[in-house]
Amino acid sequence: MPSYVIIGASRGLGYQYLKTLSQDPSNVVIGTARSVGPTAAKVAEDKLPNVHIIAADLTSAESLKTSAEEVSKITGGSVDHLIVNGAYLSPQSQFLAASEWAGKEDFFLEELNASMLANVAGVLFTINAYLPLIRKSTVKKVIVITSGVADFDAMAKTGISGGIPYSLSKAAVNGVVSKFAVESRNKGEGITYIALSPGFVATSAFEGPITPEIQTAVEGWMTGFKKLEPNFSGPIQTDESVEKQLEVIHSVTEKDSGAFISHHGNKKWL
Ligand SMILES: NC(=O)c1ccc[n+]([C@@H]2O[C@H](COP(=O)([O-])OP(=O)(O)OC[C@H]3O[C@@H](n4cnc5c(N)ncnc54)[C@H](OP(=O)(O)O)[C@@H]3O)[C@@H](O)[C@H]2O)c1
Repeated sequence: MPSYVIIGASRGLGYQYLKTLSQDPSNVVIGTARSVGPTAAKVAEDKLPNVHIIAADLTSAESLKTSAEEVSKITGGSVDHLIVNGAYLSPQSQFLAASEWAGKEDFFLEELNASMLANVAGVLFTINAYLPLIRKSTVKKVIVITSGVADFDAMAKTGISGGIPYSLSKAAVNGVVSKFAVESRNKGEGITYIALSPGFVATSAFEGPITPEIQTAVEGWMTGFKKLEPNFSGPIQTDESVEKQLEVIHSVTEKDSGAFISHHGNKKWL
């Protein structure tokens, strides 16, 4: 029975992973949430079979270690697929260009720290908490959900100048994935680490008050993405993204370890 642990599964792509994976009764599916009650209630309401919800917060190494102990009791000590999905996403800072942070230095530091804590340190804490369980698997796959915005050469073509704290954190976490992959190769551990971008997906990430500034900036994104992919027609749905991500997850092998790739299995981000 293949096991999947989804870190950050309360909504958006993380919750979609629970929905998609639980359709196969042979899967053992475990999702983590900062607040277990509402996610467990949603799982019960949606009648998702074979799904366990346990507590974990990316900003707390202790909570991640405790969650790994809980998972170990469910799976019998191993984890086949660890998918680190949760992230700090800040709509407030997504649209500020570099020079627009002038006079907002404290806010920049807050956003940078929050992004780096959850999206970089939190990922490293998670992987270390779960490594003993991953090592006991025969599958040994660690997937970190990153973003195409960390490909600065591609993003330069879009003309999108915002999202600095978030994109820096995703570029940094790609580095974390690469370093874990190198260590695994050095030690002959046979673990496959992948930094996987899900595409541009309609999730709760940008819910909230849409100010005229945000509206203008979102329209700028659409125009920018068309410069990168002329056929781009808007965000895809979570089920399509997760289906494609799972195809990639199941097809990668140890030789791919350390790669930064998209839901298409390559560097096509949209
Ligand atoms: N949607 C896109 O177009 C897109 C594009 C590129 C990359 N991504 C990446 O895809 C992943 C999922 O994003 P999404 O679009 O599904 O966003 P979302 O709908 O906003 O969901 C974000 C998830 O992260 C969790 N989370 C936030 N802070 C956390 C923390 N400290 N510890 C544990 N979990 C935490 C949230 O849990 P709570 O409910 O507790 O807040 C929620 O489950 C992220 O890594 C994101 O960077 C998304």
